[in-house]
Amino acid sequence: MDTNLINYKQVLKNRPYGIPDDNTWELVKTKIEDLKDGEMLIQQDYISLDPAMRGWMNDVRSYIPPVQIGEVMRAGSLGRVIRVSGKTPFKVGDYVSGWGGVQSYIITKGENFYKINPDRSSLTSYLGALGMPGMTAYFGILEVGEIKEGETVLVSGAAGAVGSIVGQIAKIKGCNVVGIAGGKSKSKYVVESLGFDSCIDYKEANLVNELKKYCPKGIDVYFDNVGGEILDTALVFLRKKARVVICGAISQYNSTGNIIGPKNYLSLLVNRASMRGMIVLDYAAEYGVAMKQISEWIQEGRIVHKEDVYEGIENFRDVFLRLFTGDKIGKLILKISK
Ligand SMILES: NC(=O)c1ccc[n+]([C@@H]2O[C@H](COP(=O)([O-])OP(=O)(O)OC[C@H]3O[C@@H](n4cnc5c(N)ncnc54)[C@H](OP(=O)(O)O)[C@@H]3O)[C@@H](O)[C@H]2O)c1
Repeated sequence: MDTNLINYKQVLKNRPYGIPDDNTWELVKTKIEDLKDGEMLIQQDYISLDPAMRGWMNDVRSYIPPVQIGEVMRAGSLGRVIRVSGKTPFKVGDYVSGWGGVQSYIITKGENFYKINPDRSSLTSYLGALGMPGMTAYFGILEVGEIKEGETVLVSGAAGAVGSIVGQIAKIKGCNVVGIAGGKSKSKYVVESLGFDSCIDYKEANLVNELKKYCPKGIDVYFDNVGGEILDTALVFLRKKARVVICGAISQYNSTGNIIGPKNYLSLLVNRASMRGMIVLDYAAEYGVAMKQISEWIQEGRIVHKEDVYEGIENFRDVFLRLFTGDKIGKLILKISK
């Protein structure tokens, strides 16, 4: 047994009020315990940084229990099995992805982990287009958005992990796709690299004027990643029988006041439109179908994916906050193995 292995973990120390600060997490060092029968030791290479992590720190009723004070911060992860004891679902050398949390090693019996094939796609893609964000995009736009050829689809957070895949799937399905992203270079990336028909820079442009220009007949499907005022404005442009997919509301996650909700909801009434929330975990039984399809689209060059990878478990907070400043492109990932 190698007694030199040390687990570095980011533990929730205080629930944040607004933006997480220096006191929110603590980097703790512990020794790796001996494995019990049926357990595996996984060395974690990559941690998925997701906006939802901010919500998991609030002590409120949600679709998943909050992370408790003193617990390792919950996060998706990807790593390698480096040691096993007895009969285990994976063997030494297997790459696996699951809910490993923000820590360098995890001991598990393999519940909530699945094996990935590193020869099929890049490792980091399993946290992005072939991981939870890709699954969210696939089921959100196809099953909740129910897009049809020729429809106009508006996607906020268009340069991000979920939005970038949503828009590309909508293009594959023959829709007119308009993105919303922050900044000139992101908007350029959304059109030139991801193939959206147009993209609105919400930080600079007048959203109402741009929506009039790019969605002259209105919006059939709005895939909402940001909530707040952008959602409110999009509602004004709904067409008859439009669908609004409530995937997330990142503009509100660090709010210390009242959540900005949709003032313009009567647009749903007059347009016989619907607005529906979705949680990707509800589709877990069907992830295999989505993974196969997205990976075929990647092989065919019809879906482009980008991961923005930063290093060091000690830098977790600074890198995590890039989700909220927008200082990243594509899927945000923290590499924690040396
Ligand atoms: N329902 C589900 O099951 C599910 C699953 C996964 C994700 N989600 C949700 O989907 C959304 C996107 O997640 P993701 O992982 O793909 O994140 P992401 O888009 O890769 O990263 C977040 C992006 O949000 C934008 N943003 C930050 N603050 C904003 C603000 N105040 N107003 C407008 N945009 C802002 C930034 O882009 P800009 O630079 O363009 O502003 C930032 O890059 C999140 O709301 C997340 O919670 C939901």
